[in-house]
Amino acid sequence: MTTETISKVPAHVSLIMDGNGRWAKERGKERVQGHFEGVESVHACVQAAAKAGVKYLSIFAFSEENWNRPEAEVVSLMGLMVKAMAAYIDGMCEEGVRFVVLGNRARLGDELNAIIDSCMERTAHNDRLTFIIFISYSGKWDILQAAKKMALEMEENPERKQEILDMGVSGFDKYLVTAGIPDPDLIVRTSGENRLSNYLLWQGAYSEFLFVDTLWPDFREKEFNDALAEYAKRDRRYGKVK
Ligand code: IPE
Ligand code: IPE
Ligand code: MG
Repeated sequence: MTTETISKVPAHVSLIMDGNGRWAKERGKERVQGHFEGVESVHACVQAAAKAGVKYLSIFAFSEENWNRPEAEVVSLMGLMVKAMAAYIDGMCEEGVRFVVLGNRARLGDELNAIIDSCMERTAHNDRLTFIIFISYSGKWDILQAAKKMALEMEENPERKQEILDMGVSGFDKYLVTAGIPDPDLIVRTSGENRLSNYLLWQGAYSEFLFVDTLWPDFREKEFNDALAEYAKRDRRYGKVK
């Protein structure tokens, strides 16, 4: 690897963690065991991202569509998130990680919302790495809630109607739940599925995509660094001629 490629560290890496169920099935275990093991991969990727100098790491943990899974799986996933946050909060504070949860929080239970609030408050001033978990999130939901917010703002401030209508793409960005967070430079999906599954539809407009066969519980520091190395080889043109 040349010095030039090493220096191309993406500011924002986003991971669609997929394949927990298949990982468990391959081992004759319950699906939930795959989710447990997947938490270790999340921890490994947070460490690897901080080490590599990535400023934003986001993960897609639970989609709006995932509410349609069997209730027992949904309940165990929500419980696992509470446990994982409780287990890793002190480490995030020590390591300078700012923790953020984005998504339709109104659908989450009180216990999960309470621990999210506490983790976000405790880490709000950290600036080494921002670690974002998308929970109960979908790209279409995000765009829709942004459009609703914009319409409401216009209704409440009729004198600003034209200003709001004229604000353009970067103005609309401010209504999305990702306001203030740079768009992902690299989106990685594990488990061999080549789709976005309603993830960052707006924000991923110019992201580099990487689809790998590795199942999420096997995606650790080496796999994360391999993804960074692949990103370093990409040539981003944004529609221009180089
Ligand atoms: C990813 O693994 C975790 C979530 C989407 C919540 P899956 O649970 O989707 O695992 P597979 O795709 O069924 O193997
Ligand atoms: C996408 O995985 C959602 C998350 C990783 C949270 P799914 O396993 O739910 O996606 P599909 O159903 O295969 O598209
Ligand atoms: Mg899946």
